[in-house]
Amino acid sequence: MTTAKFWILFAGILLAANGQAPGDTLDPSKPLVDGETLASTRGIFELGFFRPGNSSNQYLGIWYKEIPDKPVVWVANTNTPINNSKGVLNLTANGNVLLLDKGANIFWSTNTSNATYPLLQLLDTGNLILTETASKKILWQSFDHPSNTFLPEMKIGLDFKTNLDRYLTSWRSTSDPTPGDYTYRMDPHGVPSVYIWEGSSQIFRTGPWDGKGWSGRPDMASNGVLQFEFFANDNEIYYTCKPFDKAVLGRAVLNESGVLQRLVWSPTRNEWIPYWAVPSDPCDQYATCGANGICTTSYSPICQCLDGFTPKSPNDWNLRDNSEGCVRKTPLNCSSDGFLPLENVKLPDTSNASAVSNMTLDECQNLCLKNCSCKACSIIRDSMCLIWTGDLVDVRAFTEGGSDLHIRLAASELDTVGSYSSRKISSAITIIIPLLSFLLLLCVASLLWLKRRNSGKVLNSYSFRSKGNDWELPLYDMLTIRDATNNFSKDNIVGMGGFGLVYKGKLGDGQEVAVKRLSKDSVQGIDEFKTEVVLIAKLQHRNLVRLLGCCIEDEERMLIYEYMQNKSLDNFIFDKRKSALLGWQKRLDIIIGIARGLLYLHQDSRLKIIHRDLKTSNILLDNDMNPKISDFGIARTFSVGQTEGSTRRVWKLWKESRCLELLAESSYPVFEALRCIQVGLLCVQEGSEDRPMMAEVVLMLCSDSIILPQPNRPGFYIARSCVEGNCFSNEFTITMLEGR
Ligand SMILES: *[C@@H]1O[C@H](CO)[C@@H](O)[C@H](O)[C@H]1NC(C)=O
Ligand SMILES: *[C@@H]1O[C@H](CO)[C@@H](O)[C@H](O)[C@H]1NC(C)=O
Ligand SMILES: *[C@@H]1O[C@H](CO)[C@@H](O)[C@H](O)[C@H]1NC(C)=O
Ligand SMILES: *[C@@H]1O[C@H](CO)[C@@H](O)[C@H](O)[C@H]1NC(C)=O
Ligand SMILES: *[C@@H]1O[C@H](CO)[C@@H](O)[C@H](O)[C@H]1NC(C)=O
Ligand SMILES: *[C@@H]1O[C@H](CO)[C@@H](O)[C@H](O)[C@H]1NC(C)=O
Ligand SMILES: *[C@@H]1O[C@H](CO)[C@@H](O)[C@H](O)[C@H]1NC(C)=O
Ligand SMILES: *[C@@H]1O[C@H](CO)[C@@H](O)[C@H](O)[C@H]1NC(C)=O
Ligand SMILES: *[C@@H]1O[C@H](CO)[C@@H](O)[C@H](O)[C@H]1NC(C)=O
Ligand SMILES: *[C@@H]1O[C@H](CO)[C@@H](O)[C@H](O)[C@H]1NC(C)=O
Repeated sequence: MTTAKFWILFAGILLAANGQAPGDTLDPSKPLVDGETLASTRGIFELGFFRPGNSSNQYLGIWYKEIPDKPVVWVANTNTPINNSKGVLNLTANGNVLLLDKGANIFWSTNTSNATYPLLQLLDTGNLILTETASKKILWQSFDHPSNTFLPEMKIGLDFKTNLDRYLTSWRSTSDPTPGDYTYRMDPHGVPSVYIWEGSSQIFRTGPWDGKGWSGRPDMASNGVLQFEFFANDNEIYYTCKPFDKAVLGRAVLNESGVLQRLVWSPTRNEWIPYWAVPSDPCDQYATCGANGICTTSYSPICQCLDGFTPKSPNDWNLRDNSEGCVRKTPLNCSSDGFLPLENVKLPDTSNASAVSNMTLDECQNLCLKNCSCKACSIIRDSMCLIWTGDLVDVRAFTEGGSDLHIRLAASELDTVGSYSSRKISSAITIIIPLLSFLLLLCVASLLWLKRRNSGKVLNSYSFRSKGNDWELPLYDMLTIRDATNNFSKDNIVGMGGFGLVYKGKLGDGQEVAVKRLSKDSVQGIDEFKTEVVLIAKLQHRNLVRLLGCCIEDEERMLIYEYMQNKSLDNFIFDKRKSALLGWQKRLDIIIGIARGLLYLHQDSRLKIIHRDLKTSNILLDNDMNPKISDFGIARTFSVGQTEGSTRRVWKLWKESRCLELLAESSYPVFEALRCIQVGLLCVQEGSEDRPMMAEVVLMLCSDSIILPQPNRPGFYIARSCVEGNCFSNEFTITMLEGR
């Protein structure tokens, strides 16, 4: 034996003994035995034999080489573990990969053949590929046979040419990679989408691809770490993802309880960061509200029937058994039906739906109306028309994102919920008006807030600065109020404010009043209370709710206000039907009225009051729809749900100079509308010194000869910062408006 040959052999023995990788490739000259591994070029993945948990069973697998616990991403012989001897991986000269035990029993094989100079290679993506060296043809790859892990660059879906169906299968347990009950698999029927299946029943559906992400996963599209793609033609349908930065390691695992969990590795924290998981809430459960039902997580109960539908079995429905779903109140007429638009939803199950490309919404609706069996339609990916002919199954509502669904209803049903065209406008209005009033309210709140800081005074609810003359305020006795409110009957409750319940009442002389019964924990001493009530009663402005008097008895404190027929603004603007009743001019009047009321509170009244809880439910409307502000002086944060989403969208549209999109298909005086939006944006700029004063706001709104400055970024704009794959969302609270 020559020295050179000896050293080669010696090195080989050393490497084998250390379990070191011979490299990233295996060729037919030498098998891979238990203890040896292949490592991908950059050392990200490793191929070898492993025993999961305490199991004595041996599997061939691929795992992350450098990550603690070496999470396994792929297993070859899931059904046929080697259980009594060491495993061997042989690549035969004609290109078959064999997994053998010492007794040369075959446990698994790629079933490939006829290759000249085959080569097995582990790539940095985690893909194990078998190629023919000369032709570079891929004969087999592990990405075509996924286990429970979806890696970037892998495809989930079907290849009709090769008859390949790539899907994830859960493990039976953490120590048993035998195929479990769950799969994550593309359904090519109708308009394709991916489902999590438990056996043959669906438990979660992604919804169809809407261009940026799945219709049922609106949080997916805005992901700054991974880019998702969907591809469909006659030959193949698949879903894949790529990291924007190749150094970012991400995986999605279908775990043993049927949850698909997406994880991203954080090298700084040395742990996997959970990104999202599905199903993650009750509305993610497939068809949880039955046919023609809609699931909304923020409602209780979560299940409702779609507009125009009613529970098929009301008794079961009331017992929260929603499986029977809902049926139409009025059958379709076929010749004179219309559409009810439903925004921000996960589109119904598309496995029986059909798609026609290159269509406008009008063309799509006309197509639907032409076929009596069409029940709903929608436009996805800008111009693809989806048509549903069966029940609408597995619809859920989102506060933001999702798609628009147009439900076909009989004309008589549409009459009860507003005509088709007014609905269309109302859907545009529902975006604008809450937005405008919200921006304006924010503006005012922030101005008042700043004023408070400047004056250095901390005022709490119902405490004011005043010169303090004595002033007569009617005191009502308890008996009168009890009579007026039918002994505080439940039926008389008209609202719940920050400080207690509000009852409608009728005094002996027929005058209608609103009685605010302060909750006991907000009770002050009698003198203190009286002083403050007197102060409030002095504030008189046509845009402020008038305080008529109060009632004091033992622990009870009540405020008696004039009664507002039309209740509060939120009744109108967050209700599509009612909001259609408000014309543009009326809306502008309301906004200006609120601004005037606040200006009075803030500047003109001698009391300088800070309204700490300004929101649409505190704006009441009288018979003539004049706005009146109620509830001065309560510090609470805004509710994020209704406001954050739409605010973000403005801001985004403004930046792209596409503000007019908000006004789609409406007949607003465009410049006035633009002006309102701009004023709103000016009010919520990040720098407090940039924000206009309340008096300026009123001027800006009322006169169109003032040139408005361009707004900067709003102070509460929800920024997402991603560092090492960790994303943080700024909490949105009113305190951020202080600009500290
Ligand atoms: C391994 O076996 C030991 C002893 O039987 C047991 O205590 C331990 O929980 C097992 N670990 C796993 C991961 O199954
Ligand atoms: C080992 O594996 C073989 C083939 O899969 C199987 O027939 C046998 O029962 C297994 N033995 C044990 C002890 O699990
Ligand atoms: C596996 O490979 C080794 C070494 O190349 C060879 O001796 C053995 O015959 C192969 N086994 C099979 C079943 O192909
Ligand atoms: C190879 O063929 C055998 C027998 O037809 C089959 O059981 C096995 O699943 C095939 N292996 C692969 C990786 O397709
Ligand atoms: C391998 O090649 C032979 C001869 O060309 C052919 O008869 C056989 O069908 C091929 N087998 C496969 C699996 O392609
Ligand atoms: C699967 O993932 C979900 C969500 O992260 C988790 O709650 C559940 O415990 C996991 N199941 C198992 C068996 O690990
Ligand atoms: C549909 O409604 C129109 C107008 O109301 C009516 O003329 C027509 O007869 C109705 N058709 C059916 C099939 O009910
Ligand atoms: C699709 O059609 C099949 C066959 O008619 C039916 O069994 C299934 O329930 C339908 N699926 C949906 C979601 O409507
Ligand atoms: C879409 O339809 C319009 C009008 O029907 C036509 O001019 C255009 O070429 C179509 N585009 C595609 C991509 O088919
Ligand atoms: C209406 O739709 C059904 C279901 O998709 C289809 O079978 C039928 O051919 C369509 N009818 C017309 C006239 O297009």
